[in-house]
Amino acid sequence: MNKLTLRLNTIVNALSGCDTFADVGCDHGYVAEAMLDAKKCNFAYVTDVSAVCLKKAEKLLKENHAGSFEAIVTDGLKNVPRVDQVLIAGMGGELICDILKNADFLPQRLVLQPMKNADKVRKTAIELGYKMIKDYTFKDVKYYDLIVCEKGEESYLADEIEFGRDNLKEKGEAFKEVISKKLAIISEALKIAGEDEKQKLEKLKKKYEEIIL
Ligand SMILES: C[S@@+](CC[C@H](N)C(=O)[O-])C[C@H]1O[C@@H](n2cnc3c(N)ncnc32)[C@H](O)[C@@H]1O
Repeated sequence: MNKLTLRLNTIVNALSGCDTFADVGCDHGYVAEAMLDAKKCNFAYVTDVSAVCLKKAEKLLKENHAGSFEAIVTDGLKNVPRVDQVLIAGMGGELICDILKNADFLPQRLVLQPMKNADKVRKTAIELGYKMIKDYTFKDVKYYDLIVCEKGEESYLADEIEFGRDNLKEKGEAFKEVISKKLAIISEALKIAGEDEKQKLEKLKKKYEEIIL
């Protein structure tokens, strides 16, 4: 049975083949299971700050992957052995930034899926020495940002930090929908805005319109 939602499937597809993998804040453990099933990694660490959440992953992985995984109750990337690739998904962007800044080590490759504040995640990843490999918005009922980065130099422009480079380049459907929703909110706000606020809103409206042209 495929336990992966479209969101989780998108994440698994963004993960590359590697020797060692860690899913930080794994909860259910479905991603590590998919990685091991597909032999996309030889060994997986599943970690979570909550022992109760981690038990779910442990129970799942014990079925078919005993010996190929280790479950660690921990905060972020503390006390996690060095691995090639790390996933941090389904958490707020600020928490992801804190986990990266306080990590005992930083891997060669990161796959990040913040629930909000993707701009802060991009900025932090670049400051910590990562270059962007893929950075775009996708839809699985809700809208999500997916940020794939590897160690290397990067020079992102302010708009790329705000919106994601691939969104600006490719203008995918999900991204255009997100911006259209923002434009609809601005149009409503303009109806009741005072003169000062109107100017700011008009400027923002123009910027969003230009972005999805
Ligand atoms: C909403 S779930 C996301 C689960 C999974 N990563 C996904 O994308 O479906 C967030 C998980 O992160 C865990 N978590 C929150 N803060 C954490 C931290 N500082 N370190 C490790 N795990 C954390 C929670 O206990 C929870 O299991």
